[in-house]
Amino acid sequence: MAKGSLPQRLQDVQATEEMRIDMHNGEFNRVLGGGLVPGSLVLLGGEPGIGKSTLALQVLMQQGERKTFYASGEESARQIKLRAERIAGNAENLYISSETSLERILEQVKELEPEIVVIDSIQTIGTEAIEATIGSLSQVRECAARIMEFAKTRNIPFIIIGHINKEGSLAGPKVLEHIVDTVLQFEGDQQYMYRILRAQKNRFGSTSEIGIYEMQQNGLREVTNPSELLLSTAREGLSGIAIAAAVEGVRPFLIEVQALVSSAAYGTPQRSSTGFDGRRLNMLLAVLEKRVGFKLLQKDVFLNIAGGLKVQDPAIDLAVLAAVLSSNMDIALDAGTCLCGEVGLAGEIRPVNRIEQRIAEAQKLGFKRILIPAEQKIDAKRYSIEVVGVKKVTDAFRLLIKG
Ligand code: TYD
Ligand code: MG
Repeated sequence: MAKGSLPQRLQDVQATEEMRIDMHNGEFNRVLGGGLVPGSLVLLGGEPGIGKSTLALQVLMQQGERKTFYASGEESARQIKLRAERIAGNAENLYISSETSLERILEQVKELEPEIVVIDSIQTIGTEAIEATIGSLSQVRECAARIMEFAKTRNIPFIIIGHINKEGSLAGPKVLEHIVDTVLQFEGDQQYMYRILRAQKNRFGSTSEIGIYEMQQNGLREVTNPSELLLSTAREGLSGIAIAAAVEGVRPFLIEVQALVSSAAYGTPQRSSTGFDGRRLNMLLAVLEKRVGFKLLQKDVFLNIAGGLKVQDPAIDLAVLAAVLSSNMDIALDAGTCLCGEVGLAGEIRPVNRIEQRIAEAQKLGFKRILIPAEQKIDAKRYSIEVVGVKKVTDAFRLLIKG
């Protein structure tokens, strides 16, 4: 029996920090949990056209002295070159190969001995070991398992790209997620330039971090201060806009919630929501009807999160309602105020997580006042921004409309 497989006393096990490869890309490092772990297998998933190839190639081009390898089963060497030329970076030690055979790719890796390998994409390569067609479930699974084994034995990290379909499942659905160490999801609305990198699974770090990028002409720019990007400058005096102090992952940022309420043109009023859960919007509108006495039955309500962002944070509830109210009354809310609070069925404002970070972010961006759940006890003296606790939706509205 191999020595390593003998039982060890727990207290004899050395639990030192995993070694990390600094990717020279702050957002990427952050999502990985502090850098790439040698010998790990990372799956980078996302819809076609979102920017996976661009991100992967760009990250390799940021490696400077390190030897890196980009194997593509999708594009010719010339196409890869053209893409690389658009992206700013130093490609001196980047090797590429246009190849669909896994065996040949791994041969090339053995010969080249790169420090990081990207395979673009897992659906376009195949192993001779099994008969299945390239892109089929069993091919994808078999290739991933072989890459995993190779990565672990040689201690070389691999990033494999995987396309997901519109339903959001990786082609060959969850099969890959079980095999790999880390699953990163690259997402965003293609109409907008923001892209979010999210860890869905991470054996070597938390899954609450997100990375934010902006797709530009010359590749992806890291967005270190998302709030500035997401707030439109010309919102003053406009009705139907409220600013929420949100948290995605562990990062606070301010987002602009836009609502349009108008008389229903047809019998059944429309309810439409972009970037925010539609069922939650309906629930919030019911609260507005029942608890605040707003008659919205004959109204169309459109809701939009600016910038094409999808927000899951319940703390933006209050801003959603404020935007709806503002549009309905056609009164602009005070532009210097932002909001956070989950709204309950009784119209009560419920506590939210990371309240200090939200307040600090609002203050940093020059807001004069923030409305927070009254229940949350914070030391207001620590902030220069005015912090106001609100108990009910109606309390918040009173403050917002009076200015
Ligand atoms: P791509 O990385 O090919 O997406 P994926 O690999 O996820 O399918 O990128 C798709 C889009 O990005 C494409 O429409 C062109 C655009 N793009 C830029 O805007 N700037 C750039 O520097 C590059 C390389 C691509
Ligand atoms: Mg691609």
